[in-house]
Amino acid sequence: MSISKTITIGANTDEPLTIKRFGYGTMRLTAEHGWGEPKDKDEALKVLKATIENGISFIDTADFYGEDVTNRLIAEALYPYADDLLLCTKVGPARTSLRDWHFFDKPENLRTSIEKNLATLKLERIPLVHFRYMPGSPTPFEASMEEMFKLQQEGKILHLGVSCVGVQELTKALNMGNIASVENAFGYGQRTTFQMHGVEVRGLQEVMDICIDNKIPMVPYWSLQNAKAEGEDKIAVIAKKYNTSETIINLAWLLHYNDLILPIPGTSKLKHFEENIKALDVNLTQEDMQFLG
Ligand SMILES: NC(=O)c1ccc[n+]([C@@H]2O[C@H](COP(=O)([O-])OP(=O)(O)OC[C@H]3O[C@@H](n4cnc5c(N)ncnc54)[C@H](OP(=O)(O)O)[C@@H]3O)[C@@H](O)[C@H]2O)c1
Repeated sequence: MSISKTITIGANTDEPLTIKRFGYGTMRLTAEHGWGEPKDKDEALKVLKATIENGISFIDTADFYGEDVTNRLIAEALYPYADDLLLCTKVGPARTSLRDWHFFDKPENLRTSIEKNLATLKLERIPLVHFRYMPGSPTPFEASMEEMFKLQQEGKILHLGVSCVGVQELTKALNMGNIASVENAFGYGQRTTFQMHGVEVRGLQEVMDICIDNKIPMVPYWSLQNAKAEGEDKIAVIAKKYNTSETIINLAWLLHYNDLILPIPGTSKLKHFEENIKALDVNLTQEDMQFLG
């Protein structure tokens, strides 16, 4: 089964960005629960440098990983940036040192976050920003998206996507303008709505299907931590067949499931990063994919 090893963000725009179809998510570089300075800063900088050394040019971050921790680490490790580096951040929530989550999606909040990301990432324009929706927000989704499009028109953002959306929000967003990508929970073991920390995680398979219909790249998160489908060991069977790890087969499944998927596995460890990119070398057959289901 042949898989495409590249993906284009903004394919239908004047400034398409073609990158390797494998990225890296920085959230695990912070201390516990996406907050605080890394336990091992040297290792964190090594992981970031290894992304570029291995031809990875898509890095996912957020100013609320930190606060600003991952943005500062990225700048420290990689600035001045390679021309083809696609830094992707997200706005919509904010956190405090109490690690609690707040809506930060009013137009003026979004502007503040974009300015903060531009400053900490040392960028004049952010290549890709996801508006990360938080269900229950008093700010109408359309009002937030309008401001995001405005920020894009002002040149602060090149490509705009959405994150944590259900069918309803994605449909609204598509009616408002060009959506370059979607960043949602999706993976072998997570394709239907589930609960995480008392919050409903929605928009899995049904959002993936809309992305396929509209040829929109999908940047899936939590593909490893929730990898095991309940009562299943099919991944283990295929891992044994290829004499490799279950993690690698989970990532290979994403790469084979659809060419629109751009995996961004998160890790704080160089050893794990080096293992994860080996997924690009696994060629699953059609029978393997049918068996995995
Ligand atoms: N848009 C959103 O709302 C949203 C939400 C969550 C995450 N994200 C983004 O998506 C990225 C991925 O999500 P995630 O990091 O939360 O979860 P993930 O990629 O599903 O899993 C990361 C976990 O797997 C472990 N791991 C990674 N590689 C491994 C390996 N080879 N062997 C064993 N364990 C391994 C990591 O631990 P070690 O550190 O020990 O390797 C970590 O505990 C994040 O980093 C973040 O950038 C976005």
